[in-house]
Amino acid sequence: MKVKHLVGAFLCVLGCYACSSPKTEVQSPDGHIKMTLTVDENGKPFYNVSVDDSLLIENSAMGFTAANGIILAEGFQVKNTTFSSEDETWTQPWGENKKNRNHYNEMAVSLTNEDQVQLTLRFRVFDDGIGFRYEYTVPTVDSLLITDELTTFRFHRDGTSWSIPASAETYELLYQQQPISEVETANTPFTFKTADGVYGSIHEAALYDFPEMTLKQIGHYTLKAELAPWPDGIKVRKGNHFTTSWRTIQIAPEAVGLINSSLILNLNDPCVLETTDWIRPLKYVGVWWGMHLGVETWKMDERHGATTANAKKYIDFAAANHIEAVLFEGWNEGWESWGGMQSFDFTKPYADFDIDEIVRYAKEKGVEIMGHHETGGNIPNYERQMDHAMQWYTDHGIHLLKTGYAGAFPDGYLHHSQYGVNHYQRVVETAARHQMTLDAHEPIKDTGIRRTWPNMMTREGARGMEWNAWSEGNPPSHHVMLPFTRLLSGPMDYTPGTFDILFLKTKDSPRRQKWNDQDKGNSRVNTTLAKQLANWVILYSPLQMASDMIEHYEGHPAFQFFRDFDPDCDESKALAGEPGEFIAVVRKAKGNYFLGAATNESPRTLEVKLDFLEPGKQYKAVIYADGEKADWKTNPTDYKITEQIVTSENTLSIRMAPGGGQAVSFIKSNR
Ligand code: NOJ
Ligand code: CA
Repeated sequence: MKVKHLVGAFLCVLGCYACSSPKTEVQSPDGHIKMTLTVDENGKPFYNVSVDDSLLIENSAMGFTAANGIILAEGFQVKNTTFSSEDETWTQPWGENKKNRNHYNEMAVSLTNEDQVQLTLRFRVFDDGIGFRYEYTVPTVDSLLITDELTTFRFHRDGTSWSIPASAETYELLYQQQPISEVETANTPFTFKTADGVYGSIHEAALYDFPEMTLKQIGHYTLKAELAPWPDGIKVRKGNHFTTSWRTIQIAPEAVGLINSSLILNLNDPCVLETTDWIRPLKYVGVWWGMHLGVETWKMDERHGATTANAKKYIDFAAANHIEAVLFEGWNEGWESWGGMQSFDFTKPYADFDIDEIVRYAKEKGVEIMGHHETGGNIPNYERQMDHAMQWYTDHGIHLLKTGYAGAFPDGYLHHSQYGVNHYQRVVETAARHQMTLDAHEPIKDTGIRRTWPNMMTREGARGMEWNAWSEGNPPSHHVMLPFTRLLSGPMDYTPGTFDILFLKTKDSPRRQKWNDQDKGNSRVNTTLAKQLANWVILYSPLQMASDMIEHYEGHPAFQFFRDFDPDCDESKALAGEPGEFIAVVRKAKGNYFLGAATNESPRTLEVKLDFLEPGKQYKAVIYADGEKADWKTNPTDYKITEQIVTSENTLSIRMAPGGGQAVSFIKSNR
C-alpha cells in the first residue's frame, strides 16, 4: 500500500495531543496525485492536492458552521488516522461502461474538539482524482442547523474553466469559458485546465439528504462551497449525526480522460435493488416536439398532440423502425392551468386519449409506453399522488416514466435545496418499488446515484433540444461542451435528432407563424444534420430519444443510423476532444460499434484510428458525413452516406463542416 504518514500525524497517533500542525498524507495507487491534511494552531483543518509534485489545490479550508454556537470547523485535534485501500471491478447493469474498476487509497482522519464534536474526514485518492467527505457526530445536541459550508478549492495558480453560473433553480444555462479567477459563481461539474496543462473537474458524488454544492469566488482563484438554502435561510437540517456527499476533483492529463473516468460512480454505494433485469436501455420517439414547436398542444384542444389516433401513428412508426418505446406528453388533465400553480391529475387521461386502447395497441405491436408526470413544480400535489399514480401506470403495463419540474416549488422551496434533493430521491425510491425506470427533467444534478439506484437512468439538467424551438437556441459549441461538463456527472436526456433543422416543414402552421414574428424567424437548430446523428452517440443517454416529429423521419435515408443504433452499450471511450471545441466518442454494443464526432463553429478533420475494433474482424462502416457544401449556418442539411469495409488496422479521416459532425456505425460483417 503506497500510503504514508508524515511525522506529525505519526506523533498524533501515538497520542501527541498538543502538536499544533499534524500533517497527514495519502497518495493515489500510481503515486502521481497526493492529498495532504493539516490542522493549524486554531485546530482548523486544511487540505492540499498536488499532481506530479506540483500543487493544484493549496491550503484549502474545510468544515461547516452551525446555529446555536455549535463549532464544527475549529478547535480540532487529530485523535486517530487510519489507512486502507481498495481494488475491485464491479458491474453496472447498463452503460456507459458495464465494467468499472474502483481502485483507491483511503485515509480517514478522526478529529475531536472541546465541544465533543467528532469529525471523521475521509479522503479517497484514485489515479484519476480525489474525493473527500465529512462524517460528523455531535453527541451534545439532538439536531443541527447548518448555516454554511466552509470548504474551499483554492487553486495554486490561475487556469481556464468551463461552467454555468450557480443557480438553486436551474441548470438550463449557457456555458462560459473564462479564467478561474474571473468565475463569479459556478455550478458543478466545474471543469478546468491549469497552466501546467492538468485537466480537472470539481463536482460531488452520492448526494442524499443534503443541498447541492455550488461554487463562489472569494478572491484569488479560490472557490468556496455554497449550499442552496431552505426558505428560512438554514442550509441543512440534520440530526446529531451526518455524512456529506463526497466533494470530488477529477484529474486527468487530457480532457477526454475526465470523460473516461468512473470516479463519481466509484464513490457511490453498490446497487441496493434486489433485481435489475427490468431496467434496460432503449430508444424512444414521442409526441413532444410538435408541442415545443407550437404546432400541437399539451392541453386538449383542436391541436392536441396526445390523441388516440396520433398515439397509434407513433406506435406504428416505432414498431417499424426498431424503436422500443413511445413517450406521450399532454395526456392527462391539468395542462389547462399551465403557467399558474399547476395541479395535474396523474390518473385522469384526457377524453381523446383512450389509455386502454393505446396500451392494448402498443402491446400488440411490441412497443412500450413511456409515461409522463409533469409536476409544474407543485411538489405537494405530486407527492400526494405519486405512489398511486405509479401503481396506476404499472397496472397499465407502463414501466418507464419521464418526470418534469417546469416551475417554481411552492412556498420558496428551491429545486436544488435539501428539500428538493429529498423529493427527487423519494421519487427514485417510489419508482424502484414499482419497478419503474426514470428520466427526470428539471432534475437535481446527477452525482452517480445510478450505481445504487440503477432505475434512475437519465435526466435533463442542462439546456436541451427544447431551447432551439423557442429561444436563440444552443450554439454549436454547446454540444461539444456538454461531454466535458454536464455529462461528467452522468447521462443526459438532451433529446437529439432534429432533421427539419430550419423548421421549414412546420413554418406554415398558424402558431409557428406567430412565433416566427416574435423571434424574427430566427428559431432553428444550430447544427448540421450529420451532427444531429452524431449527438445520439456523443450525448449519452440509456433512454435515447429521436426527438423530431416522426413525419420528418419518414423515408429519410439518414434515419437508418438511429434504426441501427443500440443504446445498450457495454463500453464507451472518448477518443479525442477539447471542451467547447470538438469531441469523438465510440461506444461498443453487442459486438457492434457506434462512433460520434462533432465540432463547434470551426470546420475540422480528425484522423481516427480504428484500433478500438476487435482485431482480425471485418466491419461494415456506414458513414454519415457532412456533405461537401455543408455549413450549420448556410447549408445545414447537406449530408452524404457512404459505406466501406474496415478493420482495426484502418484510420478514418473524419471531415466535419462548421457546426458539423459525423456518425459511423460499425456492424460486424459476416465476410
Ligand atoms: C420541460 C421538459 O424539459 C420538456 O421535455 C417537457 O416537454 C416540458 N417541460 C413539458 O413537460
Ligand atoms: Ca427542461
